Amino acid sequence: MFGLNRARKTAAVLAATAAAATTALLGAPNAVAAPQPIVGGSTTTTTAYPFVMQITDASQNQFCGGTLVSATKVITAAHCMVGESTSSVRVVGGRTNLNGTNGTVSRVSKIWINPSYTDATKGKDVAVLTLATSMPYTTASYVTSSQTGVYAAGTTARILGWGTTSENGSSSNQLRTATVPVVADTSCKSSYGSDFVQTDMVCAGYSSGGVDTCQGDSGGPLLIGGVLAGITSWGEGCAEAGYPGVYTRLTTFSSLVATQVNS
Ligand code: ARG
Repeated sequence: MFGLNRARKTAAVLAATAAAATTALLGAPNAVAAPQPIVGGSTTTTTAYPFVMQITDASQNQFCGGTLVSATKVITAAHCMVGESTSSVRVVGGRTNLNGTNGTVSRVSKIWINPSYTDATKGKDVAVLTLATSMPYTTASYVTSSQTGVYAAGTTARILGWGTTSENGSSSNQLRTATVPVVADTSCKSSYGSDFVQTDMVCAGYSSGGVDTCQGDSGGPLLIGGVLAGITSWGEGCAEAGYPGVYTRLTTFSSLVATQVNS
């Protein structure tokens, strides 16, 4: 859901993308630049990342991700929950593959959307779901408001999801993961201008692109040192050179979130 697929801006972006692809080809063992997962990365399982949840419709069709932070609480993106109701959503844990029927399916008894949220590009993209059924899986811890140092530029972050494996591609049946470096705020500001709200967002990705979250990964985790530090939110296309992924800067919202998680 929620594309933010604004029209490609300039020929310069296209040229940069082509240049990055050429560089990737030169460094690759094979001459084929295969489209890669999440975009870029590899398959994994909910056994390896038990706190990664599928957020689905009532028919268990996945449309976003989420992170289990207590047996009955899931952190996700506000933009995933807009227009949803407790009866329209399910949370599925312990299911590595979209076409699986295993794991635990829970109904949602409460949807809290950050009341200040309007649009992902305005920030505040966070929501907390309360589950009707406890999830029997290991939870993730999330950053506290004082841990702002985790976003130091260049820090390795892990992204996870079932989203599309290329900008206009299709979703991955199996959960995927990749690592991306945190991007300096100044650099992200030059990419996105006023759409980058520094207090509420953090960017991650390579300047040459190639590895990123994409459509369907939203709401899922950005982990730093194994701790939930961001929520997949938006980006210009996916994995484009010069346009890193944008994640909710969770330290800004951790007190607000904790009130919900502990309620
Ligand atoms: N908004 C998308 C979603 O709802 C996530 C997009 C992330 N884009 C990116 N280039 N990192 O699934």
